[in-house]
Amino acid sequence: MASSPVSKADFIVVANRLPVDLERLEDGTERWKRSPGGLVSALEPFLRSRSGAWVGWPGVPDVEVEPFEDTGVHLHPVPLSAKEVADYYEGFSNGTLWPLYHDVVAPPVYHRHWWEAYVRVNRRFADATAEAAGPGATVWVQDYQLQLVPAMLRERRPDLKIGFFLHIPFPPVELFQQLPWRTEIIRGLLGADLVGFHRPGGAQNFLWLARRLLGLEPSRGAVGVRTRPGVVPNGDRMVRVGAFPISIDSAGLDALAHDPDVQKRAQEIRNELGNPKKIMLGVDRLDYTKGIDVRLHALGEMLAEGRIDPEDVIMVQLATPSRERVEHYQQMRDDIEGLVGRINGQFGKIGHPAVHYLHQSVDRKELVAYFCAADVMVVTPVRDGMNLVCKEYVATRHDLGGALVLSEFAGAAAELTSAFLVNPHDLDGVKNALQAALDVDPAEGRRRMRALRRQVLTHDVDRWARSFLEALGAQETNNA
Ligand code: ADP
Ligand code: G6P
Repeated sequence: MASSPVSKADFIVVANRLPVDLERLEDGTERWKRSPGGLVSALEPFLRSRSGAWVGWPGVPDVEVEPFEDTGVHLHPVPLSAKEVADYYEGFSNGTLWPLYHDVVAPPVYHRHWWEAYVRVNRRFADATAEAAGPGATVWVQDYQLQLVPAMLRERRPDLKIGFFLHIPFPPVELFQQLPWRTEIIRGLLGADLVGFHRPGGAQNFLWLARRLLGLEPSRGAVGVRTRPGVVPNGDRMVRVGAFPISIDSAGLDALAHDPDVQKRAQEIRNELGNPKKIMLGVDRLDYTKGIDVRLHALGEMLAEGRIDPEDVIMVQLATPSRERVEHYQQMRDDIEGLVGRINGQFGKIGHPAVHYLHQSVDRKELVAYFCAADVMVVTPVRDGMNLVCKEYVATRHDLGGALVLSEFAGAAAELTSAFLVNPHDLDGVKNALQAALDVDPAEGRRRMRALRRQVLTHDVDRWARSFLEALGAQETNNA
């Protein structure tokens, strides 16, 4: 990473986080590491191939970092104070919007001072972006933390082409209407030329709200996937509203899974786990939307009923630490760790636990080795905008082995219809799906995996980005 004289960019991604996080080590030194979450996993490879700029927070409070270059991408750090991290990031973004947009699976909290911090920080992101963008540049604003940026940026720089993409679900209108600042959010998003969601339903909800809250006259036709965007006339501009399901760097993961070192490591993982007949795997940020508790309850009951033998079947759960100062996350971590402890206490043996739980993030190669080692990938969110983990698993299974159990409440379920689909609220249904995936006939398993791979390999992140930028009318933008 090198400091560089920063020129104005023609293509800019704006997200709450930079693709790298500043980490302060105990000995006082600092280093950059990859930021958590699906947004960065998806956008980072795309932006590197395009050498644009990225405006975002460096991940720790109270640091001022000069713009710098990281393998071809110009990074523009936006500082946040400790109070802003508490009010804008942990508060309004993750204590209000995150639960509200995920079907209120935890109760959202509405505090005026959190909202005020959200407005102030969105303004800072808009200022930093207006400063970094060259004349007529394309700016792609990302996610729920920055929904006011499109309108704020348009005010400062009417010459820019502005896109916005929401990486999480856009909620049913009845839930969105709870938000005391609902009109301001819709107005903020309408500053963009194109507003994108994962699913047509989200786009449809947004169109309805533009009519209801702002008295605008949006188009009434059904929005398609990557086609037939809706249109909202807004003053002298037309805002398009569409559905663009995000994906992964499928070819990159497929290539990693072919790496002999990764295959060797996958075998080592199986050996280290005592060569059980079947390995079930969960990989998530430790978030209450991910349904980690659902799969643990299902496993506990299946063990108790003797449907599976702990000698034969073990579960591995990798959980990246996330938002650890937010109350619901602390509570959920205690619950999950309690459940793991109870299952192991009851069904484990010395040196042979039934659940291996790592509250850690692992590097890319290691993660792919886990995917290759796993017989059943268990993805059971109670609500998820897309969920990239399930697509990553499929991309690594060129051997057509493995089985995917996937919640109907993940955006990915609309595309991955050959998975074992489950309703995560129906515990018996989850248990039956796990059983079916564990026992699947090999030919049937290969048939399912082949169909899943066809979908994931042909609909990758590059196609997602190209379809969004084409709809924005920005596909031909020059590189920075
Ligand atoms: P979210 O964006 O809500 O975290 P996604 O499933 O869309 O959920 O994306 C999560 C990303 O983080 C994926 O790229 C996944 O591989 C990665 N990830 C999740 N947990 C871990 C972990 N324990 N170690 C390494 N990577 C992880
Ligand atoms: C999800 C969100 C992203 C967020 C990521 C990690 O993917 O859509 O916007 O960056 O989770 O969460 P964090 O709060 O650590 O940035």
